[in-house]
Amino acid sequence: MKRKLLSRRKFIAGTAAGTAGTMLAGRIPAYSSIATTASSRLAIQGGDPVRTEGWMKWPVWNKDAEEPMLKVLRSGNWWSGQGNNVEKFEQEYAALIGARRAVATASGTTALITALQVLGVDAGDEVIVSPYTFIATYNVVFNQKALPVFADTDQATFSIDPNKIEAKINDRTRALLPVHILGLPVDMNRINAIAKKHNLVVIEDACQAWLAEYDGKMCGTLGDLGCFSFQNSKHIPSGEGGAVVGNDDAVMDLCQSYHNCGRPYGDSMAAMHGYPVRGSNKRMTELQAVILLSQMKRARKDADKRLENALYLDSKLKDIPGIITYQLSEGANRSAYHFYPFRYKKEHFDDLSRDKFLAALRAEGIPCMGGYGMQYHDGLIEEAINSRGYKRLFSQERLQRYRDELHELPENDQLTREAVWFTQNMLLAEKDDMDDIIQAVTKVYEKRKELV
Ligand SMILES: Cc1ncc(COP(=O)(O)O)c(C=O)c1O
Repeated sequence: MKRKLLSRRKFIAGTAAGTAGTMLAGRIPAYSSIATTASSRLAIQGGDPVRTEGWMKWPVWNKDAEEPMLKVLRSGNWWSGQGNNVEKFEQEYAALIGARRAVATASGTTALITALQVLGVDAGDEVIVSPYTFIATYNVVFNQKALPVFADTDQATFSIDPNKIEAKINDRTRALLPVHILGLPVDMNRINAIAKKHNLVVIEDACQAWLAEYDGKMCGTLGDLGCFSFQNSKHIPSGEGGAVVGNDDAVMDLCQSYHNCGRPYGDSMAAMHGYPVRGSNKRMTELQAVILLSQMKRARKDADKRLENALYLDSKLKDIPGIITYQLSEGANRSAYHFYPFRYKKEHFDDLSRDKFLAALRAEGIPCMGGYGMQYHDGLIEEAINSRGYKRLFSQERLQRYRDELHELPENDQLTREAVWFTQNMLLAEKDDMDDIIQAVTKVYEKRKELV
């Protein structure tokens, strides 16, 4: 990546001479050795930003997809019933993820709906879900007229806390829906053990976790079914798109069938005719598949680059007071880093609010965000449980207890107040670009008193 060093040079010119050379060489020493050296003003107060250069745009178009794309366009065979790109993608994606089979869907949401339907999550059931997730994970459970029951988050791992799950299980509970959020693997051995003990199915929301690894296997292949998203911001993007992966042929035949209007599919349904099961249309188009076949080619290399840069950021950011880097769950091997997360403890920044911290970082040329909020208080849950259908399906007492328990997620509430995320495309830059991030966080820390 072409670098414009001017702004960082200016910043470094204001630091102790002894550390400047080391920084320019792309190796920032641990925080304690550069503390109290910065003299340049914060960019938010009119000083020079650490970085003026932008970040890599995402997604990246691969020219090698142009010819097959034109071929499909000109053929008029735009749906999977007439082409072979979707089928080819299903085979290649299953191989990439290490699953026996994959079913391509229109989106991650439709992949999750397919998995819930096929594994028998029905009206009036309960599904235990992580509250720290994209809203689609809640929506798909409501779509089945089931209740998404939240087990509190482990702030260190950003994931569902396995210790909080069993207290939420009752005779309506049908499934566990762990989310490998931000690409961070959930402790799946614990999840699977709980599911086995209580006879529940496990659906992994791996919509942000392509090539993340746990216990030597890829996320998405550890439960009964795993679901992925290929929406535009994702690491393997196609505008919209999704996949369900699994290892059980009969279950995967049902996924194929359900997502294709309920038409029978495969050996396990060979004797069936017409529309033997309830179905829907959740199919991927041939055009989406052509894009994905091409995007998939860069996935492994990108994943390795993100990992390398994330580990470098971990090693430096953890030394800055008030910055708590994420912790991998027990048994996890690697994250996919759909976002690079840490927790911001304002008490170490003289009570500088997270919003002001984020604004100061952005002014230094480092895009960042606070991530998910307490969306269970936004109104959608009240809307659902006040509906005619939910009042028929669940007792008043159950719905009231459910409502009350939305206020008993202290760990998750705190995480939503303290999380800070960097986007995945930033992790595809070079090590000296990571130094800009470290430099900016360090600068805001050192100048915090000027902001409060
Ligand atoms: C955790 C999670 N679950 C589900 C989804 C839904 O995927 P899609 O947007 O492809 O429907 C997303 C998408 O962002 C997600 O991040």
